[in-house]
Amino acid sequence: MHDLTELEIVTIMLALLYTFVVSWKPLLLYALENDIVKYTLYEVTAYNQRERAFLYSLHINNDKYIFVNGVTNEAAIPIYVIVKECCLELFEKDLYANNIDFTYIKSNILWDKPNSKLKSSGNKNSTPINSFYNSFKMKLWIEVKLKKHSMFSKIIIGKTYETKDLIAIKMSVGKKKCAVLVVGGEEGRDWMSPAIILNFIENILESKELINKLLEYCDFYFLPVFNADGYEYSLRKDKLWVKNRKVFFPKKMCNDRVAIGVNIDRNWFFNKASNLYAGERPISEEEPQALFRFMNNMANNLLMYINVRSFDRLITIPYGYTTEYSNNHLILMEILSATCDKLYNIHNATYFYGNTANILYNFSGNSADWVKEKFNIPIVMTVYLKFKDHLFPNETHIQPLTKQFTSIMVEILPVVNNIYGPLFSNHKSCFKFTNRFIIASLLLHTLINIH
Ligand SMILES: *[C@@H]1O[C@H](CO)[C@@H](O)[C@H](O)[C@H]1NC(C)=O
Ligand SMILES: *[C@@H]1O[C@H](CO)[C@@H](O)[C@H](O)[C@H]1NC(C)=O
Ligand SMILES: *[C@@H]1O[C@H](CO)[C@@H](O)[C@H](O)[C@H]1NC(C)=O
Repeated sequence: MHDLTELEIVTIMLALLYTFVVSWKPLLLYALENDIVKYTLYEVTAYNQRERAFLYSLHINNDKYIFVNGVTNEAAIPIYVIVKECCLELFEKDLYANNIDFTYIKSNILWDKPNSKLKSSGNKNSTPINSFYNSFKMKLWIEVKLKKHSMFSKIIIGKTYETKDLIAIKMSVGKKKCAVLVVGGEEGRDWMSPAIILNFIENILESKELINKLLEYCDFYFLPVFNADGYEYSLRKDKLWVKNRKVFFPKKMCNDRVAIGVNIDRNWFFNKASNLYAGERPISEEEPQALFRFMNNMANNLLMYINVRSFDRLITIPYGYTTEYSNNHLILMEILSATCDKLYNIHNATYFYGNTANILYNFSGNSADWVKEKFNIPIVMTVYLKFKDHLFPNETHIQPLTKQFTSIMVEILPVVNNIYGPLFSNHKSCFKFTNRFIIASLLLHTLINIH
């Protein structure tokens, strides 16, 4: 064997150094992330545009304040802010200085640990979901359904940054029809929307009536946990985690102590610097890329795109990045008006509705805007569900919120199918479930819009 040359020695040393850095990276990050942070919850009220603008500037410029439901433009919707312990004094001082009303609600907020045991219900045929499933339990649930129901199938649409499978579920009966895509779990901390979606699927599987009302007219595709890495991290470690788990290494400029994560709910258009880290370019992240490819393949057939979220009680339609209305704004508003009346009558739940920029605030990068603009799908909406005044995920709210979500779908789908279904091949009319009065007024709207 010959002696090592200088070059070989340097190469070996570099290789060793590289191995060291790569294997120690997770440990290093773990140590940095693991200190316990305490949070306090406030309810803030903004009475005018000046106050809203001030709160909005706090929202986008300061990662010590977590605006759970954003800064809404609707005066009647309270704004919930969670503040890290270090910044309580500064936060209150800022609000006093700007004459903004706030109520201190709770210190050291935490919510229940997810229940890891599968709860068995008395009835063997139906297993309503009453807990927040981690990815392992969700996979088990999917395997059980696959064996039992032929209308249920699984599609792996891609992988997350941490290489977890992104699993979509297809529900269909009979011939191929136009498609409805329902996405949940965009924010890691949103445990409720995946649970609602699974429970909704469970209800469809067990109810002939729901199959008749929904699957007879459309094929349903569900992506229950879009941000699978962030969701798992939120369940296990940091309840308030929102972003995905992309690691920038070596450290890149972004506002976290450790540079981790991209807000995949802002990754669809480029967004200027803020504490919401939208990524390096539009659709830069694995998860939006996978969803984009999946949608691209079915775009011609896509009737509805529904993004399900929690922490509020709203139904928003495009756009958020501009205050301009989308091409079928009036029709959507009419449908939502009827839907929200129904929600109030059936569930005693008041939902606000409108275009994102007006009802929430003007922001870019959300998937709904992107889907509307690039694919021009007839119905694009984001549904935010919350049980009464309960802000945080609570297992006892999964059932009532699933009922509300079901009402929304059952109310909207027949109307939408009747108006837009004829644009698709394989259309099947469903007049029998529709309020004829609404249809007549919508057709009138369409005529007015055309001429
Ligand atoms: C969840 O809701 C139930 C019923 O409303 C309540 O008894 C329980 O305390 C809640 N859990 C948390 C952590 O808030
Ligand atoms: C809001 O939208 C307008 C265009 O309609 C844009 O000029 C402005 O920059 C947007 N504001 C924010 C905060 O994104
Ligand atoms: C409906 O909700 C309101 C406020 O949330 C409550 O005060 C009222 O008692 C509820 N009505 C019924 C019939 O449950």
